[in-house]
Amino acid sequence: MARTSSSSGEVEEEKGKEEEKKQLKQNQKQKKEALGWIEWLRGWVYLIYEMLFQRIIASHLQNPLPLPPANDLSCIVTGSTSGIGREIARQLAEAGAHVVMAVRNTKAAHELIQKWQTEWSGIGLPLNIEVMELDLLSLDSVARFAEAWNARMGPLHVLINNAGIFSIGEPQKFSKDKYEAHMQVNHLAPALLSILLLPSLLKGSPSRIINLNSIMHYVGFVDVEDMNVVSGKRKYTSLVGYSSSKLAQVMFSSVLHKRLPAEATISVLCVSPGIVQTNVARDLPKIVQAAYHLIPYFIFNAQEGSRSALFAATDPQVPEYCELLKADEWPVCAFLSHDCRPTNPSEEAHNIETSYQVWEKTLEMIGLPSDAVERLLQGEEVKCRYGA
Ligand SMILES: NC(=O)c1ccc[n+]([C@@H]2O[C@H](COP(=O)([O-])OP(=O)(O)OC[C@H]3O[C@@H](n4cnc5c(N)ncnc54)[C@H](OP(=O)(O)O)[C@@H]3O)[C@@H](O)[C@H]2O)c1
Repeated sequence: MARTSSSSGEVEEEKGKEEEKKQLKQNQKQKKEALGWIEWLRGWVYLIYEMLFQRIIASHLQNPLPLPPANDLSCIVTGSTSGIGREIARQLAEAGAHVVMAVRNTKAAHELIQKWQTEWSGIGLPLNIEVMELDLLSLDSVARFAEAWNARMGPLHVLINNAGIFSIGEPQKFSKDKYEAHMQVNHLAPALLSILLLPSLLKGSPSRIINLNSIMHYVGFVDVEDMNVVSGKRKYTSLVGYSSSKLAQVMFSSVLHKRLPAEATISVLCVSPGIVQTNVARDLPKIVQAAYHLIPYFIFNAQEGSRSALFAATDPQVPEYCELLKADEWPVCAFLSHDCRPTNPSEEAHNIETSYQVWEKTLEMIGLPSDAVERLLQGEEVKCRYGA
């Protein structure tokens, strides 16, 4: 008799749990539809505010940002043939770092190196800079790049995931891996690169993973069931593609930051470069591009835009700050603003539940097991669907 009542109690408990799950799913469904309009509006206000006042807010910073000697650093900078990445690579090399330009146009990178070496001759020792091929539109290319780097058995101190696209006004495109192009270049490929390079980052620890993010993530929304924006629930625009990919990157980075044990001393950060005049606007209509040129006062040049990433890569207090966030169980990873000060990512980026879903979904999409981080840190080999 006692057994019967305890088992009916268990049934009740099970029912209760089922109800809870249903409720949770219901809530998630409601939340997943879109970004709340107040958050969305707040995001745009913040964006306009940054555009109008970024120069004043960052007026305490020198340009170029003075860097400490970086002779003992090995750094990978993706997308360093133009814009912000080009500035980051050049300045790190001039500070003495060993820099790898991870690019798809290797010819352009070699030409740049030649130019920089000529300009630098007579000022200091030749720059320690090299080129490796990386096409973020191919996850095979990412895995091959990581394999080649890890095979050197050397330390990696700084990985700068800079390369990115914002194909303004263009129709939706997909990579050969069948992922929406913004999501792949801005989030999935850098995520795969960061994880596959963990063994080298561990050798170089204290080391840093720095993601060039954007305040546009404030107006982004990630639907984990529709990362490619193909379901029709949301209308695809390049703005949706770009802002979702940048938000996905913040969410993924926040979970990575949490999953890396403090002893690993690998810091994970996102930075906003500000609103910067680069080739990122290459797809804008000519008239808008002309307007862009007419407002140089408000818009940073590439050198100004490189400061937050360079600060994140070299400031000695950055690892300590990241550890502090970890110890405080802060829900998001470190996010530095264009003025090199810590700032808070969007409200949606603080959604821990969605962040973990983004983490799981991303690992699935990039062909890694869910315990890839833990296994790589223990020195185990991890099979990736790509690159073999
Ligand atoms: N400019 C801004 O206002 C702004 C604001 C916020 C955030 N950001 C972020 O800052 C980062 C740098 O952007 P930027 O403004 O310097 O733009 P950019 O001048 O267009 O530079 C982007 C770089 O990414 C590379 N790239 C693009 N697709 C690639 C691929 N499939 N594989 C490898 N490399 C690829 C490009 O290579 P190619 O030269 O071969 O095309 C280029 O070197 C991006 O992540 C961007 O989202 C920029």
